[in-house]
Amino acid sequence: MRIVRDLPALRAELAKLGPLALVPTMGALHEGHLSLLGIARRQAPAVAASIFVNPLQFGPQEDLSRYPRDEAGDLAKLEAAGCDLAWLPSVEVMYPPEGATAIEVGGPSEGWEGDARPGHFRGVATVCAKLFHQTGAAVALFGEKDWQQLQVIRRMVRDLDMPLRIQGCPTVREADGLALSSRNRFLSAADRAQAPALHAALRHVAAELAAGVPAGAAIATAKAGLAQEGFAVDYLALVEAETLREVSTLPGRLIAAARLGSVRLLDNIAAA
Ligand code: PAF
Repeated sequence: MRIVRDLPALRAELAKLGPLALVPTMGALHEGHLSLLGIARRQAPAVAASIFVNPLQFGPQEDLSRYPRDEAGDLAKLEAAGCDLAWLPSVEVMYPPEGATAIEVGGPSEGWEGDARPGHFRGVATVCAKLFHQTGAAVALFGEKDWQQLQVIRRMVRDLDMPLRIQGCPTVREADGLALSSRNRFLSAADRAQAPALHAALRHVAAELAAGVPAGAAIATAKAGLAQEGFAVDYLALVEAETLREVSTLPGRLIAAARLGSVRLLDNIAAA
């Protein structure tokens, strides 16, 4: 695996590789990322992963310095997963001084995470656009766990005629249903035991909707149940899968964000 940290070295390595499948990451790699790499391998002759903790997608109240980092461990995982190229730009390489351009996606960026984390999707879209241009990837893979992020990136690629395909990949879960996330490591033992209740609540709501229970009632009951179990629920909603607009009838996507202690958990499932 080639490890590159600046644009000239990246371009030199890309010239030796065929069409590329890219897995953009912020490091702290877990089985969810490794499953993306496995799927990437089937999409293109060469596989690259980027590791870049993107300051632009963290708000002023969010602790960028607390984001888990383990470069040596991540590189060993990428190597073992058969990754051909690891792209590790520094902040200075990604955002040279005097940069004055950012990408603002409307539509699916609005509401939910867009409200909870102002500026977040602007940062995500900007860094993803840069990663796509830097690597010239033919396909980029993203986990469905960050459902709204996936829709924002799809919309940006469509609106800006970017010449690559975006592939969403299934959320990888612990045996008890908890969606894998690099933030799970910050859960206390008690909160870790409680955390799968979020996924269970989504599944329960999906089953109720399929049985004809009105969305408003099913969701209100689920939110109350989660609050009793110690969650601070930011939102739990039925939305149109691509636009993220709230809907009251199936089909849709059930999306949720809830805090347990200091950890904010996200999850979503299809509801049909
Ligand atoms: O999902 C992530 O890890 C990040 O938001 C991404 C897509 C790598 C952009 O920094």
